[in-house]
Amino acid sequence: MKSPFQYGKLAEGIAFVNRVKEKQMLKNNLVSGINTMLISPRRLGKSSLVKLATRELLNENKEIKVCYIDAFTLNSEESFYQTFAREVVKSTSSKWESWLTTGKKYLQALSPRISIGNDPMCDFSIRLEMSAIKENELELLNLPEKIAKSKNLKLIVCIDEFQNLAKMKTYPELEQKMRSVWQLQQNVTYCFYGSKRHMMMDIFNSSSKPFYRFGQIMFLSKIAENEWVDFIVNAFSATGKSITAELAQRLVKQVDLHSWYVQQLAHFVWYLTDNEVTAEIIGQAMEQVIDANLPLYQRECEALSATQINLLTAVANGEQMLASADVTAKYRLGTSQNVSKNKKILQNADLLEKTKDGFDFLDPVFKQWFVVEYGR
Ligand SMILES: Nc1ncnc2c1ncn2[C@@H]1O[C@H](COP(=O)(O)OP(=O)(O)OP(=O)(O)O)[C@@H](O)[C@H]1O
Ligand SMILES: [Mg+2]
Repeated sequence: MKSPFQYGKLAEGIAFVNRVKEKQMLKNNLVSGINTMLISPRRLGKSSLVKLATRELLNENKEIKVCYIDAFTLNSEESFYQTFAREVVKSTSSKWESWLTTGKKYLQALSPRISIGNDPMCDFSIRLEMSAIKENELELLNLPEKIAKSKNLKLIVCIDEFQNLAKMKTYPELEQKMRSVWQLQQNVTYCFYGSKRHMMMDIFNSSSKPFYRFGQIMFLSKIAENEWVDFIVNAFSATGKSITAELAQRLVKQVDLHSWYVQQLAHFVWYLTDNEVTAEIIGQAMEQVIDANLPLYQRECEALSATQINLLTAVANGEQMLASADVTAKYRLGTSQNVSKNKKILQNADLLEKTKDGFDFLDPVFKQWFVVEYGR
């Protein structure tokens, strides 16, 4: 039998837990034309939530269309504009036969080369010459509004891993243009989300940046413990196995309610269990989780300097006064400038986050592994 737990792809169907309030808020924003930026630490469930919320909107309202762009692989303006144009055209015409006509009609000035292959879902592309892009940038950014207005639609443009665009050399100018065009649009609402929390905050929450106050920033928090426990208990019993509420609670606490890890740990527990889950099984499964993620953790550590590792060690050991003479000496953290520089670097790398008492690891399982490997 197939495990009822999933990770590595978007959570959907019965595997999607809770998020009732967040989903409602996101849907309300997007139908009301409020641009929304969804921010959370990695792998907590942003993409899953946006997908589910927008799918529901699509089903509930025939005037709404949704366009999804994954900025993860977009590394030049050319690829950004081409993908943007293609996805906007695709999402605003329901049949693939009309993609060609829609594309030609609205991109006329740019003499696009549009091609449709054997499998239109995958092989539809719009090629634009860089010179044409450069002359028509504002026009291109306004494409969603132009099509949505003339077809009487409300278009929601979702851009996943938005912060990746900021890596382009020309991003600062692009950012200005996006903001100036997009803020005037009436039939288009934007939803941006991304996994580099630090970069997302920098783009959307710095008063000197164009996207400051572009819309509402939503912080996605963890799914509540009781929601996870219900889900896990039911998923085991629906597949002919059983887990008590106490053990399910222990399971989710073990990974600090982190969505991805809850699913991964539950999956391993499910596999190791014939009939009934025991505490030993949870322990074994936790070792498997750490093993499965080990290459990633090692890679992260290899990229760090000795003083950065030492700083992580101090945090892992619960030290809060990182700049104090005692702590710097005990953990060999270097000069005080060094400490503050490393704090920034580790935050930018999304390894540490500021808490009210000091700093903590963003990834709860990485922390557990790190404590064993480097702590004390
Ligand atoms: N609502 C949910 N219910 C159950 N599991 C969830 C939920 N949201 C996320 N997950 C689990 O967490 C994993 C990561 O979810 P998702 O890819 O949506 O997160 P993300 O925040 O977009 O991640 P990334 O930061 O890598 O882009 C999923 O594969 C799934 O296992
Ligand atoms: Mg994601």
